[in-house]
Amino acid sequence: MRMDAHPARTHGHRRTAHGSKQPEGEAPFVNIVGELVALGPLRRDLPYQWWYSDFSTTRTTGKSRPMTVEEAAAWYERHALNDREAHFTIYERVTWRPIGTTMLMDIDMENRRAEFGIVIGEPASRGKGYGTETARLMLDYAFTAHGLSNVMLIVNAYNLAGLRAYEKAGFREFGRRRQCRFMGDKMWDHVYMEWHRRRVYQPCVEPSIRTRRRATVGERDTRSPLSG
Ligand SMILES: CC(C)(COP(=O)(O)OP(=O)(O)OC[C@H]1O[C@@H](n2cnc3c(N)ncnc32)[C@H](O)[C@@H]1OP(=O)(O)O)[C@@H](O)C(=O)NCCC(=O)NCCS
Repeated sequence: MRMDAHPARTHGHRRTAHGSKQPEGEAPFVNIVGELVALGPLRRDLPYQWWYSDFSTTRTTGKSRPMTVEEAAAWYERHALNDREAHFTIYERVTWRPIGTTMLMDIDMENRRAEFGIVIGEPASRGKGYGTETARLMLDYAFTAHGLSNVMLIVNAYNLAGLRAYEKAGFREFGRRRQCRFMGDKMWDHVYMEWHRRRVYQPCVEPSIRTRRRATVGERDTRSPLSG
């Protein structure tokens, strides 16, 4: 993970199919750069109404109706100004298109914990490894930038892509709320997953220090979430 800022040139914007502004031929401002995706600040101009209203999204996020323009605007204002949350825009690196959002919610610095969320709002951008890498980058961010020890999430048991992506990123199931979600004429569990800092090394320390620490501390699973 590279946690440096990439300023966008602000001239020459064009509008995408869903109405978002994108700097012409330039990478947007991003803070965290992975191999497949990059993460930058939340932006007012993105198509949240479309991203959060598509039924392929609401099916797994749990909302049961489309979002109105007013709700989308209120959603942006609420989250952009909440300092117990950290929201990022997810960009596909190959095109620098914004494809969704990811966030830490309920950040509790006293107890060093938070909740993770993600929506890849562009259906064509799912199933390409972006969700897995985004989750990994967000865990590094939670650990490196906030010093968080525990990050949890809740996912519907029928969200197989989510379960797999989170597992690959380093989350592990720690419990279930049984039969609490109705979908497709059936009741499903909520799966509770967590990541704990003991599972990873500090991703920004020197490799030699990591090796030494692995030898002396002897943790069972010490892979960085970025090491695959
Ligand atoms: C859930 C979500 C974040 C996952 O991100 P993604 O980029 O689509 O996922 P990835 O491509 O990184 O990984 C998906 C994995 O699940 C697997 N998968 C996908 N569909 C599957 C299915 N029906 N059964 C089993 N595995 C499946 C993929 O093969 C892949 O695993 P692999 O790399 O080992 O082959 C994304 O699809 C999304 O935003 N969906 C809509 C909103 C949502 O569900 N948000 C999360 C709410 S908790």
